[in-house]
Amino acid sequence: MVLLVFAFSIAKGTKPYKFPELKHFPEMPLSTLNPSTEEGVELGRYLFYDSILSEDHSMACASCHKQKFAFSDAPNKLSTGNNGQLMKRNTLPLFNLAWYRSYFWDGRAATLEDQIYQPVSAHTEMNLKWPDAERRLQGNKFYRNKFKKAFGETGIDSVLVSKAIAQFLRTLISHTSKFDKVFAKKASLTTEEFQGYILVNDMAKGDCLHCHTTDANVLGTNLEYINNGLDNINSVDQYKDKGLGAITGKSIDCGKFKVPSLRNLLFTAPYMHDGRFKTLEDVVNFYSEGVNKSINIDPRMEFAHQGGVKLSKKEKGEIVLFLKTLTDSEFVSDKAFSNPFLKK
Ligand code: HEC
Ligand code: HEC
Repeated sequence: MVLLVFAFSIAKGTKPYKFPELKHFPEMPLSTLNPSTEEGVELGRYLFYDSILSEDHSMACASCHKQKFAFSDAPNKLSTGNNGQLMKRNTLPLFNLAWYRSYFWDGRAATLEDQIYQPVSAHTEMNLKWPDAERRLQGNKFYRNKFKKAFGETGIDSVLVSKAIAQFLRTLISHTSKFDKVFAKKASLTTEEFQGYILVNDMAKGDCLHCHTTDANVLGTNLEYINNGLDNINSVDQYKDKGLGAITGKSIDCGKFKVPSLRNLLFTAPYMHDGRFKTLEDVVNFYSEGVNKSINIDPRMEFAHQGGVKLSKKEKGEIVLFLKTLTDSEFVSDKAFSNPFLKK
């Protein structure tokens, strides 16, 4: 049944995109409304790298989401948008996006397609009104051809732009880190890295596993929105950034943010929604002895009453070494994801 829907909803003459085999991953949720095709993904890739989608032609998605930094904007704490304004939050990296149930640090977009509407028109980002973006693309022969190939004779509109970019984003799969190779029995962890793995998954030690999964679910995140006690907050009005709470309007959601993946951290510093920590050592020190009893702190931050999980110097070092095994150098140099305008 699903297959039937799939076959009918892709444009004539297009080829379904072949995702890599991901034996040790949870099953990838496929979009039935916007299945990826070779042609759609290629179009999305051009759009992602094209400054045609910004008001003064100065900025593309890739200006803030850079492949060599796992599509984050490292080492910037905050990115600068089209009109020189600083963004409010640290730029999220882009990989393994298909698995999330919502997007942004505060979960305000339900699908990747919805997400894409925001940066193009946001005046702090690309600042281009959608009708203008559509007109520009309609007036461009290269894109008229590409849209026709990907979606048939339907013309060009914002819905198709977002569909194409979403198709490309879903292909950004990071699955070839050293840790992945251990699953495939093509590499093994050193003793110290293995100790770090144990600590991360030991409820009496690092206790990271409730939120950052690295065993049965190698995505490095439980995909939830959580408060991990970054600040000492006694009443919800004190959250400078209310995160999920500003979207749902519920006070119990204030100060909750997306649980980011533990993958590719070496490329994506600084860390947290506001980029407050410069190094992984800073992050581990926070979880060890810097945790605050914020009122919405998640009960799974089990050692908050004592300020953190209290790790020795050796243990901290081992955790950092393990985190580094989730670095996917092949992903950040994969030519399938690079700027297609520089191909030749
Ligand atoms: C000026 C910098 C900038 C530009 C340009 C930009 N982004 Fe972003 N992007 C960000 C920031 C900052 C965030 C996090 C914002 C938040 O969560 O509130 C983000 C978040 C995202 C997310 C959410 C990821 C997740 O894990 O939830 C996606 C997807 C994304 N951007 C895709 C795009 C696409 C596609 C474009 C081009 C159409 C684009 N971005 C242009 C800065 C930028
Ligand atoms: C109760 C859930 C929870 C637990 C337990 C937890 N984290 Fe987190 N982690 C989060 C959330 C939520 C964020 C994002 C917080 C924010 O930015 O406001 C985060 C952010 C991070 C980041 C920053 C990633 C980035 O891209 O910015 C790292 C690294 C990290 N955690 C590592 C760990 C480690 C290591 C442990 C165990 C010592 C741990 N976490 C335990 C929920 C948790």
